[in-house]
Amino acid sequence: MRFRLIPSAVFASFSLCGVVRAEMPALIPLPARAELKEGRFVLKPGTRVVAGKGLENEASFLTERLLRSTGQAPGSAGDGAEIRLEIVPALGAEAYALSSGPSGATVRGGSAAGVFYGIQTFLQSLPAAAFGSVAAPKEDWSAPALLVEDNPTCAWRGMHLDSSRHFQPKAFILKFLDAMAAHKLNRLHWHLVDSEGWRLEIRKYPKLTEVSKDAPAYYPEEIPTNPSFRAKYRYGHLHGGGHYTQDDVREIVAHAAKRHITIVPEIEFPGHAMAALMAYPEIGTTGKPPTAVSNITTDLIGVHPKAMNFLKDVLDETMELFPGPWIHFGGDEAPKVQWKNDPYTQKRIDELGLRVNDPQHPNASEDRLQAWMFNEMAAHVARKGRKAVGWEEIMHGENIRHLAKGSVIMPWLSAANGVKAANAGYGVVHTAVSPFYLDSYQSKDPGEPGALYQGPFTAEQIHRFNLFPDSLTPEGRGNILGAQCQLWTELMPRTDDVEYQAFPRTCALAELTWTAPERRADTEEFMNRLAAHGARLTAMGLNHRRSAPPASLKWTPAFLTASRPWVVALPAETRAKLLAGETLTLHFAYQEGAHGLDVTAVELLADGKAVAEDRHDGFTGTHPRQADYQLKLPAGSKPERVELKVTAKGSGGDDSHGEIRLGTRP
Ligand code: ACM
Repeated sequence: MRFRLIPSAVFASFSLCGVVRAEMPALIPLPARAELKEGRFVLKPGTRVVAGKGLENEASFLTERLLRSTGQAPGSAGDGAEIRLEIVPALGAEAYALSSGPSGATVRGGSAAGVFYGIQTFLQSLPAAAFGSVAAPKEDWSAPALLVEDNPTCAWRGMHLDSSRHFQPKAFILKFLDAMAAHKLNRLHWHLVDSEGWRLEIRKYPKLTEVSKDAPAYYPEEIPTNPSFRAKYRYGHLHGGGHYTQDDVREIVAHAAKRHITIVPEIEFPGHAMAALMAYPEIGTTGKPPTAVSNITTDLIGVHPKAMNFLKDVLDETMELFPGPWIHFGGDEAPKVQWKNDPYTQKRIDELGLRVNDPQHPNASEDRLQAWMFNEMAAHVARKGRKAVGWEEIMHGENIRHLAKGSVIMPWLSAANGVKAANAGYGVVHTAVSPFYLDSYQSKDPGEPGALYQGPFTAEQIHRFNLFPDSLTPEGRGNILGAQCQLWTELMPRTDDVEYQAFPRTCALAELTWTAPERRADTEEFMNRLAAHGARLTAMGLNHRRSAPPASLKWTPAFLTASRPWVVALPAETRAKLLAGETLTLHFAYQEGAHGLDVTAVELLADGKAVAEDRHDGFTGTHPRQADYQLKLPAGSKPERVELKVTAKGSGGDDSHGEIRLGTRP
């Protein structure tokens, strides 16, 4: 194959007449600093990846990625245009600097992780096909020359994935990790056990993964696109589909590590435990199999030696598989009825001195017992240098003073509880239902598949979330580790459903946790970048929600400047009319700013490719001239996504505001 090369004469003529043709790629997450430079980086069959010591993994990641997407391995012949990877410790561990241009590209990172993130930004400067697995040798494998300096805001940039309620095959987990890596996310909180199925092979307790073996992977009424879906009635029922063998887990952990992602496994106790209690009733409070079938039940794992030893055994095997610093213990939604009625459990409360006589809080003693159980297991994993993570219930009430130091809390019920936990000295990962639970509607669009939370919890809400509220003390602020989106899969029976709920909201989470708050202040501008980023999600093979059109077709200097064309999605109804063969008409109506906007061209993009253009100078000030444009889709084309690309010249775009008035005519 041959890369399609852009003749150098074209560049010469560009620079001779002083026209800046380059356009800033839609980088997500937005880097701390990104500038366009003169010229383009051109990937050629001979382009070499040259890596310093300790970057063998990053070099092979990049080489493999380019091989998959271009169909051509970066060469060894070398024609001078190299991609150089280097570690520069002074940059700070996850920071990087990227410089690319006609003579090659250099990615410097404070560590291998920093270099890896610089590679991701470099890939985003190439055509979206750089994220695909289908070789696209005919693509224009060039990129605008860039200078980027970047570092993350949060250490914990996480996604949670529930593989218990519905099991996802190993191949999906690998794909999901790839998608996380493309967004510089670095923690996968993996919910491996729950009432509906225990998904992690534990050699000492083989029945754990056997109990759900013969249950259906999903039930027909759970399909969220089925208008009569009633998945809620399947809460608590066993779901089959499979489990991860220890070999699977080792492969997944290694895949994650190569992408600088730490997996945080969740072994939940004492509630959400029906699968475990059905496999081994003797670990339960009553010693009998659970009878209720529900999402939250009173069937709890006990605190007697058999139960405690079971948990320690399971944690031992878990720690052997997952080398990361954190093990999640769950701890949410554990009603205390059984513990209250069980004589042995009550005796333990007294023996341990945990009795609290508080008429206002009748379960206070049992809650203290849960914190004791959590702390026992935290001490167990601490012997191997690990830290415990728990859902916020574990610190409620009195327990906020009794929890093992160094524990990490996930406040899912409210962001305010996160502030409380951080101010009390615990590490906190923002996980509040609103806006971080992705088992929610993501828009008010009537076509959205069924979801648990009405919401909608939108990408914009995630993007605008305040990680550092004023109520944090200075110490509390330092305890905010980051944020994480939750993918509870009760209502996501198929991996397509998971992908749809996850993307593009995950992209907003990536920018929230990576980009400094003042740098990501303009959410509307983010939504425009997100619309363009959709092509990369498509290339990754993700069943993502096609980005909603921006709230308006208003232009501001944040979107449209002389050096940066503006790509904006068309509303669904306009797209439908264009598909039906109508002509799009648009008028640029200037509203404010010292200058009008000098438009030079409007193009129609069908699934990211220009298919029609109206190229003439239009002036949009108070006395507009020729500020009307007309475009038509080629006959027979049926794109999923139709966007406008607007190019301007002169200084007008730098301070001009206005709106595009759209119309169609037969
Ligand atoms: C939870 O959603 N129960 C943590």
